[in-house]
Amino acid sequence: MFEKKTVLTGIKPTGTPHLGNLVGAIKPVIEMSNEAEKSYIFIADLHALNAVRDSALIKKWTNEVAATFLALGLDTKKAVFFRQSDVQEIYKLTVMLTNVTSKGLMNRSHAYKAVAAQNIENGNAADSGINMGLYTYPILMAADILLYDTDVVPVGQDQKQHVEMARDIAGSFNHIYNKEVLVVPEPVIQKVASAIPGLDGRKMSKSYENHIPIFAETKKLKKSIMRIVTDSKRPEEPKNPDESTIYQLYQHFASKDEADTMRKEFTDGGLGYGDAKKMLFETIELSIKEPRERYYDLLEHPDKINEVLQSGAERARKTAAQTVNKVFEAMLGKVA
Ligand code: TRP
Repeated sequence: MFEKKTVLTGIKPTGTPHLGNLVGAIKPVIEMSNEAEKSYIFIADLHALNAVRDSALIKKWTNEVAATFLALGLDTKKAVFFRQSDVQEIYKLTVMLTNVTSKGLMNRSHAYKAVAAQNIENGNAADSGINMGLYTYPILMAADILLYDTDVVPVGQDQKQHVEMARDIAGSFNHIYNKEVLVVPEPVIQKVASAIPGLDGRKMSKSYENHIPIFAETKKLKKSIMRIVTDSKRPEEPKNPDESTIYQLYQHFASKDEADTMRKEFTDGGLGYGDAKKMLFETIELSIKEPRERYYDLLEHPDKINEVLQSGAERARKTAAQTVNKVFEAMLGKVA
């Protein structure tokens, strides 16, 4: 699906990556980058700024996200892997794009509207705590996408609107300046992204505190998995695998045969939750054991991470600089 295409995606460093992120985003992104003609994968540290006001935390999470991708085998010779803030052109393009983006478009942004709705529900002023970083989040994201002549942006449903806004912004730029300067991108929705349940059965999310970190130490991983909430069905009773957090996670780590077996044993009855959890633990442990060693080794050597990200940023800047020059030429009649 991604052959001959330039695909791009950004990952916001707002927490230690968990298994939901792994299955819903990180693995599909690595697969996509193997398929694509060209891929840009970046850590969207500037996008974290509207909410995270602690540089040490942003740095920690940035390193963790980067180390996760590297430990899991992202091919950084092929994919351009970098940190958003290291590409100077992002600041230039963002400022330029503000001038072709209507305020009305921003007024429709779910990202800020969700916070405004919550404010009202809590009896506060609608705009309470909403900064311009959040309000204009879609412009920064459009700049990310448009800098690199992106054709396709694989995202979860929650980000679809942002990609559509990037399309609108590119379209309006090209229309105003009467020239196809910016490539109009397409969203591709990754269905699995929202479907990974956490320990309590709700969507796995840091904010629900129901998540399992990807590279939890063996003991901690086991403990977390044993804490997965189940109903009180006895082993011999039939269970619905599609409602079981254990099976939902298991199918992403086990082979197809193993997953089919668990599915059948749940459906027919005969598999207890305790045993199923043990199987889940062993399967996850097996598949993350080696990457986990690489991950902790990288975190102990942040210089290595930095080196990879810097050289990615250098590659990214080649296209970015051309785009910004084209934009400056169209808007100001000069190069950037
Ligand atoms: N907004 C995305 C998120 O919160 C992260 C992101 C930033 C992104 N820039 C992007 C995703 C560009 C795709 C393309 O998950």
